[in-house]
Amino acid sequence: MKSAKLFSDIHFPVGKIDDKMYSSFTEHLGRSIYSGIYEPGHPEADDKGYRKDVAALVKELGVPVIRYPGGNFVSCYDWHDGIGPKENRPKRLDYAWATIETNEFGIDEFCQWAERVGVEPMIAVNLGTGNIKDAGDLVEYCNFPGGTYWSDLRAKNGHPEPYNVKYWCLGNEMEGSWQAGHLSAEDYTKKALEAAKIMRWVDPSIKLVACGSSYEMLPTYMEWDRVMMSELWDQVDYLSTHNYTMNAGQGTTNFIAAYKQLDDHIKNSAKVLEYVKAKNHFTKDIKICLDEWNVWNFQDIKLDSLDDLAGLTTFEMTSAEKWEIAPSILQEKYSLLDAVVVGGLGITLLNNADSVEIACLAQLINVIAPITTIRGGGVFRQAIYHPFHMLSKYGHGTTMKAVTDAETYSCDFGELPIVESAVVYNEEAKEVRIFALNTCQDDSTELELDLHGYGDLKVKKHLVLDGDNLEARNTFEEQENVTMREADVPEGNKVVLPKLSWNVIILG
Ligand code: AHR
Repeated sequence: MKSAKLFSDIHFPVGKIDDKMYSSFTEHLGRSIYSGIYEPGHPEADDKGYRKDVAALVKELGVPVIRYPGGNFVSCYDWHDGIGPKENRPKRLDYAWATIETNEFGIDEFCQWAERVGVEPMIAVNLGTGNIKDAGDLVEYCNFPGGTYWSDLRAKNGHPEPYNVKYWCLGNEMEGSWQAGHLSAEDYTKKALEAAKIMRWVDPSIKLVACGSSYEMLPTYMEWDRVMMSELWDQVDYLSTHNYTMNAGQGTTNFIAAYKQLDDHIKNSAKVLEYVKAKNHFTKDIKICLDEWNVWNFQDIKLDSLDDLAGLTTFEMTSAEKWEIAPSILQEKYSLLDAVVVGGLGITLLNNADSVEIACLAQLINVIAPITTIRGGGVFRQAIYHPFHMLSKYGHGTTMKAVTDAETYSCDFGELPIVESAVVYNEEAKEVRIFALNTCQDDSTELELDLHGYGDLKVKKHLVLDGDNLEARNTFEEQENVTMREADVPEGNKVVLPKLSWNVIILG
């Protein structure tokens, strides 16, 4: 057995964890909406066609905010198509995923589903093929109390009360040529600035998310953010970025170390924000909105490395035939190994609580998602559901500085301690909650906890995600192949982390 020591002191906080850290995302893509959230005629459908079995799991997962309707989809989307009587709604080609969008489900259906499930919507406007007036009109449709064309139309369509949508994304991944209506940083800045002005004139209380850069292989990586934030600082509240990690082509050790790659990525965005703030003498703070993150192994197509994605259009990354309706695409089947990696990424989120205020697991249902439904049938939790659920359940309070003394291992992201952890202090419950990843693939590690100033704490609970078969997956028939298990609680302050495991240790 290996050994490691974790130090933390109550006098050294990193930052308060915002509840929005455990948000998610659902796009008009594959079966995320159709036969995910919404399936009229399903035995579990409610009076509006929303699946109650899915809603129950979304509630259990504890996501506070859900981003909608895309993603790449939003850059091709005209929100007007999705309002009013369903029989009048047009079927449209969605260029992003090469599917046919029936528009049976639109902004009203989403906001009303969010009300039923008890989550806050975060709406992205189309700044690709869309125009700034449409963005203003959408804010009017959702948030204006009444007495105007769009707000009265909302009432006529069945919802007199405004939805009061607070969070709005100014487009999606506008840096990339795969985006319909992709713009240069300068052109995006002009368009986003004018859209933001109009949207805020309609409702000054809204919070706006500027579209930052996400993909390091692009030559504009981070320069895009510098150019755009220098102009947009006063008009927006958050900088968006996305980060996906994949197993193929980098080897298991690097895949497990994805928490460090995400950490570098978040810190890059934070550094650009610091630079732009200092250079321009801005005073207000801008937080990061990591509105897409997950493991995405591109199981639809066979990939040897990330480089294989270069030059593909988005629909070439899926197994869909062209122009299907809600095809079964991007339905990743997550393994235990993927789940442990998602847990590691969660540790990074916690450790960046000072800069990241919103983070959305991408996505929520069926498409690269923790929840999988069978069309006409049941629903089950994928392996990644479990670490995310534990984060949203226990990851509240203040992240504290944690220093680990342990032997190291080498990976593409540097020389790292074998144990990666985040320490959360929950003042209300007077509990210290430690999230720890033992990266060692062939040995357990005894972690000694050296906690100062928190009072007399004892380990109350130790939850573990581990197993001998890293390829184990949950299926509808076998739903418990990958799940959290409760380990024995030690008497003292030394906790054994099994080989390659993700752990939640509660002290109180
Ligand atoms: O989540 C799937 C896709 O990944 C989104 O549509 C896009 O924003 C990202 O590239």
